[in-house]
Amino acid sequence: MIKISTDLLQAKNILEKEGLVAIPTETVYGLAGNIYSHKAIDNIFKTKNRPSNNPLIVHIDSYEKLADLVEEIPENAKKLAEVFWPNPLTLVLKKKKSVPYTITAGKETVAVRVPNHQLTLELLKKLDFPLAAPSANPFGSISPTSAQHVVDYFKDTLEMVLDGGNCKNGIESTIIGFENENPILYRLGSISVEEVESIVGPLKILNKNNSSPIAPGMLSRHYAPKTKTIVSKNINEELKKHPNLKIGLLLFNDDIDSNENIVKELLSNNKDLKEAATNLYAAMHRLDQKNLDLIIAEKFPNKSLGKSINDRLKRATK
Ligand code: TXA
Ligand code: MG
Repeated sequence: MIKISTDLLQAKNILEKEGLVAIPTETVYGLAGNIYSHKAIDNIFKTKNRPSNNPLIVHIDSYEKLADLVEEIPENAKKLAEVFWPNPLTLVLKKKKSVPYTITAGKETVAVRVPNHQLTLELLKKLDFPLAAPSANPFGSISPTSAQHVVDYFKDTLEMVLDGGNCKNGIESTIIGFENENPILYRLGSISVEEVESIVGPLKILNKNNSSPIAPGMLSRHYAPKTKTIVSKNINEELKKHPNLKIGLLLFNDDIDSNENIVKELLSNNKDLKEAATNLYAAMHRLDQKNLDLIIAEKFPNKSLGKSINDRLKRATK
């Protein structure tokens, strides 16, 4: 049976014995294990039912530890780390030999970030190894933004979730890779493209037609509720097409003709994109538990974190 606890020493013990602990981060909860333990890494893939060709993100507590993991740090990567760490920005860099291929799915690059969550930073400081941590959800389903979400998924298969409250950013980290010095956007996330570009100039976007995707999270169906989900620009028009269904709405605007068949989740009261991102997954989880026939999500303004939200909504519908 899973324990929900804030006990760092217990978490440390489990991890040192090659076990797994769900850890809080500012984005979503992660399913964490020692990057140098084959047993732990194997277990992460098994517990999540994650394909082995989908690489994991490595979590460290400071920029200084990056040098243990990567061969070289491009100037632009240094700049980004300086500005954003600890914060939801993941850098994909050339890996050192010592980083196991099980983490990187056979690639010569490794994804690394410093999460901005006090409890997890303290835990990482107590450990003498970094933690690999994909989001703590079964592959393809909605990411967890509270300890309870993790319990709902893994109560029988996981020993412990370190309870760090609700995740304050609410969607995953932005992932940036490099071609020499040139930064490439691998995954939209909690830090907006505009913020990244203000530091390193225009980002190249990873080619979406690439048949062997560099970042699998970019392409596949992901972040998806069990309930059929669609995205619409005009919610009132869309509602007219489904008169007899029980419908959940994920909204940015509240000018909706309500009726008893409709459950509304307004993601921000004052049209704040950051607040909407924070609330997105928790609202999806709630709607998904209501036995609805359909979830209709409103398309967000295509700027700043609206882009990241639209990206997740699109993947929820595939
Ligand atoms: O916010 C986050 O990043 C959360 C928290 C727990 O830190 N983690 C997370 O992990 O979202 P996950 O496993 O759900 O997504 C990791 C994604 C992979 O799907 C892949 O797209 C990308 O990171 N990735 C990891 N290593 C990579 C590499 N070497 N090259 C390209 N992409 C990589
Ligand atoms: Mg994930």
